[in-house]
Amino acid sequence: MTFESLCTRDFLPGDARDPFGAHILPIYQTSTFVYESPEKIMEVFRGKGEAYVYSRWGNPTVDAVERKIAALEAHGLQKDAKALSLKALLFSSGMAAISALFMAALKPGEKILTSGNIYGTTVELLNSLMHSHGIETVYRDLSDKSALEEALRDDKKIRMIYCESPSNPTVRIYDLAMLSELAHRHGATLAVDNTFSSPYLQQPFRWGADYVLHSTTKYLNGHGTALGGILLSADARFMEEKAWKMRKILGGNSNAMEAWLLNNGLKTLPLRMDKHCDNAARLATFLESHRAVEKVHYAGLDSHPDYFLAKKQMRLPGGVLGFELKGGLRAGIRFMKHIRFCTLTSTLGTPDTLITHPAGMTHVSVPKAQRLANGIGEGLIRMSVGLEHVNDIKADLERALAAV
Ligand SMILES: Cc1ncc(COP(=O)(O)O)c(C=O)c1O
Repeated sequence: MTFESLCTRDFLPGDARDPFGAHILPIYQTSTFVYESPEKIMEVFRGKGEAYVYSRWGNPTVDAVERKIAALEAHGLQKDAKALSLKALLFSSGMAAISALFMAALKPGEKILTSGNIYGTTVELLNSLMHSHGIETVYRDLSDKSALEEALRDDKKIRMIYCESPSNPTVRIYDLAMLSELAHRHGATLAVDNTFSSPYLQQPFRWGADYVLHSTTKYLNGHGTALGGILLSADARFMEEKAWKMRKILGGNSNAMEAWLLNNGLKTLPLRMDKHCDNAARLATFLESHRAVEKVHYAGLDSHPDYFLAKKQMRLPGGVLGFELKGGLRAGIRFMKHIRFCTLTSTLGTPDTLITHPAGMTHVSVPKAQRLANGIGEGLIRMSVGLEHVNDIKADLERALAAV
């Protein structure tokens, strides 16, 4: 079945049908499950059998959506001449998935290698909580192969490369095949936050990633109706014994209603992503030629340094773009004050176009020096381009740019 058709299905080929023949995935809105006999319940609590126990451990609606996203991330991929099989776990948010991955995959004394050019709260997690748990972070430019090689060679405690591609908020694209080869040669793993792409635009397992995660709050849900996160890996043992246990103990599980809303969004993922990308490409070209704009960050522009990498690694370069105004912070504030049609808010991946000022919003918790070193200037504007008619978005940008 094609990726597009798989997205529309509530039950995957080979899945058991609902016992009542429901057409659409039912919402199993229950905290616990009941058993006829004490022997059965004791067996289930000992971890034997497939039965459900308690929705923090697992829930049929949540499981169905986990299997579907696993099928999408693995779609068309092979491992050892067999179809790639992935395990997925849904979490209450992207941050719950990221923190569970770090806690499950790394031990105190081990280190993560990443760039400072990632989601602000992930930087905050690394610099505060992970640091106090004895897991340190080494920051390098993930496009600088020799700097990465040197870091991995000199510090054997680095056990994971962590990467967002495209990155938040400067929309850099990183070479996942290069990163996985480097990581594996030095006995480390590669984890990829695929939130900005979705599996429709990019499948990091194709390029050798060991772990993939998403904030499902964004494109996968696609409508801004539910928070969520997902972690995926082909390492079934890691997922069942370590990551699942972390979710069970820390309680960062998703729930039936949020999973169901996520599944509704998945049904239109390819249609939405095509339109997000088409609108983003048109607006990037428009912004690049505007006199008030200093620079546009969008890998779909042939002037962008990551243009060829995006072509190799992604179906399309994504629906998020960044741009810097010539007047810096003052111009950024004036621009946002004159926006009428687009929405000023911090999330991304919804049907309406969203405008964010990273230095003052999503990345406010990142120290200013670290922000600037990673290209997150005071005048940088991030746009999550929506599904509206492109002329409406353009007219709003034209008016606001005229005012800066
Ligand atoms: C790239 C990326 N990863 C992770 C997160 C965290 O996800 P959540 O807000 O669902 O916890 C975000 C949130 O904006 C993000 O943009």
